[in-house]
Amino acid sequence: MRTVKAGLLGLGTVGGGVYKLLERQKEEMADKAGANVEIAGILVHNINKKREGVDAALLTDRWEDIIENEEIELVIEVMGGIEPARTLIREALLAGKSVVTANKDLLAVYGEELLAIAEEQKTDLLFEAAVAGGIPIMRPLRQCLAGNEITEVMGIVNGTTNYILTKMFEQGMSFEEALAKATELGYAEADPTADIEGLDAGRKVAIMASSAFHSRVVFDDVHVEGITKITAQDIKYAKEFDSVIKLVGIARNTGEGVEACVYPMLLSGEHPLASVRNSFNAVLVHGDAVDDVMFYGRGAGEFPTASAVMGDVIDVVRNIVCGCTGRITCTCYRDIPVKKFDDIRNKFFLRMRADDQPGVLASIASVFGAHKVSISKVVQKIVTDGTAELVIVTDAVKEYHMQNALEHLMCMKAVKEIGSVIREY
Ligand code: NAP
Ligand code: HSE
Repeated sequence: MRTVKAGLLGLGTVGGGVYKLLERQKEEMADKAGANVEIAGILVHNINKKREGVDAALLTDRWEDIIENEEIELVIEVMGGIEPARTLIREALLAGKSVVTANKDLLAVYGEELLAIAEEQKTDLLFEAAVAGGIPIMRPLRQCLAGNEITEVMGIVNGTTNYILTKMFEQGMSFEEALAKATELGYAEADPTADIEGLDAGRKVAIMASSAFHSRVVFDDVHVEGITKITAQDIKYAKEFDSVIKLVGIARNTGEGVEACVYPMLLSGEHPLASVRNSFNAVLVHGDAVDDVMFYGRGAGEFPTASAVMGDVIDVVRNIVCGCTGRITCTCYRDIPVKKFDDIRNKFFLRMRADDQPGVLASIASVFGAHKVSISKVVQKIVTDGTAELVIVTDAVKEYHMQNALEHLMCMKAVKEIGSVIREY
């Protein structure tokens, strides 16, 4: 029985999980993948760190030990970040080695470049773990659903923010309290900015949209907003409207181009994503043949993410054994423009305080009308000190019409505060 040798780049949360899963399945691997899989070297940053249960002889802090080992046919990159990961993956592919990576930061920017090298070299570059951790979504988009025209991919793809919003909604926790808990539980990154500002979800949306629509979407194409402005008051109103607030990544292939966005959205309690709680992730895909398909599970963590990496490893090993690596590389054969954010249409939920005087509501409504924003619902809430709180829900309107209306409203003397502006699905 043949043995495929692999180099592991990184032995942190995900790398540790991959190492343990490979150890756990050592005996079965030949039957499962058609060859034994042996880790022949592990690249780490700090060679002196104690690593329990790991053969110390495998550890190295020299890339040369991996790249110059001609017996290594597969490189598993789970170190993260752009550099040196980009250079190492390039060099591995150029040396004819196949690569499995979980690196969304890198793929959301340099996916095209790296896939082109893999294609040229007839090697595999697989990245199931880069989006939604343990949930199989990249292979379904690239292979299982390939017979569809996919028009929409919508998901909760960041566990930290979903955990925070769930705790704010269900337990009345403050944003800060819920973030501290998410950090304690290991969901949030050491620097949680990428999670709470929506950047992590934005990278995942770029990768999913590229595969779903067969056209390259990069991180810069994605309009990203985070959850830091969501308040207890917003949550209270969401409940009153039988809705929840979720950080949603949404990509659409419209007749006028691709839309790719991440922002908090009000979802009706009946929406399939509304019941995705805590750190769980889910992705809803709409295809012309299959209709709606939903994928649900753990989007991060040692073993869930290692599960996705292992699926790719087994695929690559099978391809190596069959001599057919490089079978599926870049699937972006179209060049669809990305729509300007200003032209994207959404419904909006707005909360504002205005003078409680005759004619104020009419003047607010006329500002919306003048900017082509059609109102579907107005609710007047508590009145204190001569100020009324208004909740306004609009029909679907273009972003720039809404932004112009908001700018205009903010200049009105009767408008005291625009508390929140949340899009509604
Ligand atoms: P991590 O715990 O920080 O581990 C990173 C590993 O890479 C460490 O072992 C570190 O070495 C090594 N490393 C970092 N920079 C290096 C360098 N310049 N040279 C050599 N080794 C280096 O990261 P992680 O959470 O496992 O994430 C790894 C990748 O998986 C990232 O791309 C991440 O986005 C992706 N991912 C993670 C999750 C998750 O749940 N954690 C989920 C999906 C995808 P030392 O051990 O010596 O410090
Ligand atoms: N910090 C990320 C999350 C980890 O919360 O989902 C996986 O990308």
